[in-house]
Amino acid sequence: MRVLVVGGGGREHALVWKLRKSPRVKRIYCAPGNAGIAELAECVDIAADDITKLVKFAEEQEIELTVAGPEAPLAAGIADAFKAEGLKVFGPVAAAARLEASKVFAKQLMQKYGIPTAESRTFTVAEDALEYIRRKGAPIVVKADGLAAGKGVIVAQTMAEAEAAVKRMLVAGEFGAAGKRIVLEEYLAGEEVSVLAFTDGKAVVPMAGAQDHKAAYDHDRGPNTGGMGAYSPAPVLTPELLQQVRREILEPTVDGLRREGITFQGVLYAGLMLTADGPKVLEYNVRFGDPECQAILPRLKGDLAEIMLAVNSGSLAEATIAWHDRHTACVVMASGGYPGTYATGKVITGLAEAAAMPDVYLFHAGTAVRDGKIVTAGGRVLGVTAWGDTLASALEKAYRAVRTIRFEGAHYRSDIGHRGRAGTS
Ligand code: AMP
Ligand code: GLY
Repeated sequence: MRVLVVGGGGREHALVWKLRKSPRVKRIYCAPGNAGIAELAECVDIAADDITKLVKFAEEQEIELTVAGPEAPLAAGIADAFKAEGLKVFGPVAAAARLEASKVFAKQLMQKYGIPTAESRTFTVAEDALEYIRRKGAPIVVKADGLAAGKGVIVAQTMAEAEAAVKRMLVAGEFGAAGKRIVLEEYLAGEEVSVLAFTDGKAVVPMAGAQDHKAAYDHDRGPNTGGMGAYSPAPVLTPELLQQVRREILEPTVDGLRREGITFQGVLYAGLMLTADGPKVLEYNVRFGDPECQAILPRLKGDLAEIMLAVNSGSLAEATIAWHDRHTACVVMASGGYPGTYATGKVITGLAEAAAMPDVYLFHAGTAVRDGKIVTAGGRVLGVTAWGDTLASALEKAYRAVRTIRFEGAHYRSDIGHRGRAGTS
C-alpha cells in the first residue's frame, strides 16, 4: 500500500514511524515532512494546506491511504476533497472538523446533547461581553471562536485581564476572523487530561491515556504552548475513567454529530478538566494531539494502517486495538523564545548519539537540512521520546538523550511527567 501523511511536525513523524511498521505499507510519502521524517519517508514539497495539489499528487502516485495530521487542512476540507475523488483519507470531513475549528459550534453541540462542559456564552459585541464579565467576575476564560494555533484561549485571573482579552479580540481584531466571535466561559478547576479515541462515526475506541504539558516553563508557569511534553499512561486516567469518558462524552459527541447528519471518522480528542463534578470538556480536537501522539503511538500494538482503514470503511467495531504495558515519555526541545518569536537555522548537534541510546526515539518537529547539517526550523524542534517499564525509567532515558542534544537557545521543561511520577495523577 502507498501512504501519504500530510503535515511536518512531531506528530507526523510519529505517524510515519508507526505506519512504516505495517507490513501492508510499501511506500510512504510525507507532505511537507521535516529532516527526521526524511529518513523514513519520501518528503514531498507541498504545503499541508494546499489541498488541490495534495489531491493531484495522491491521484498521480496512486496513494491508497492519506492521513491528515494537522487541524488546518481538516477544517479546510481535505477529507471532503479526497473523498470526492474516491480517495481514501483518514481524518474527519470539514463539517465534523468544526468541533475544533469553531468553539461556538462545539459549545452548541455539547449543550444540545447534554455533554458536560463549562457554562458559557457567545458574544460578538464587546460591550455585551464586558457587561457579562462584570456580572460574572474573575477568574473567567476568554476564547476566540476560530483556530488560533493554541493561542486563542486566555484564562483570565483578573477582571482587567479578561477585559483586555475581550478588547484584543473584538475591538483590536488581533485574532483576525478567528476572534470575531468569542466564548466567555466559566473557569474550571481541576486536573487536565486528554482522551483520544478512534471513531468511524459509530464505534468509539479510546486510546491509551496521555497527559500533555501546555505551559512553556516548569511548574506549569508561563504562556501556553502547543505542548512541551507528554507521557502515557497517565495514572489519573484509570480504565474506569476512560470508560466513563467514552460513555458520557465521546459517544454522545459522535452520536450527536450523526443526528446532525455528520459522520465523524478519524481521531476525536477531548481535552478535559477533571472537576469535582466529574470530567468536563474544555475543547475538542479532531486529530491526534502533538505531542500526545508521540507518547501514545509507541504503546500501540499492531497495525496502525489497518486501524485507519477500518475507520475509513466503518468497520472499527471489528478491529483489534491493544496497548503495550510500557510507559512512554516525550520531552519537547523548543527554540529560545517559543511560543513567542524565535530564531531558526541553529545547528543541532548530538542527534546521532541520542538516537543510538536504547529505547529512545527522536521525533523531529521543526527541523530542516541545510548544507548537510540538521538545523532548527520551528518553535518546537524535537520530541525526544523514550520508553521503559516505569514512568521514572522512561523519563530518565528521555532526559539523558535530551542532555546530549544541543542547539543555541534550546529550552525544555525539566518536569515532564511530574504529576504522574508524584502519583497524584
Ligand atoms: P482550549 O484550547 O480550549 O483547550 O484551552 C487551552 C487551555 O486553556 C486548556 O488546555 C486549559 O488549560 C485552559 N482552559 C480552557 N478552558 C478552561 C476553563 N473553562 N477553565 C479553566 N481552564 C481552561
Ligand atoms: N497538545 C495539544 C494539541 O495537540 O492540541
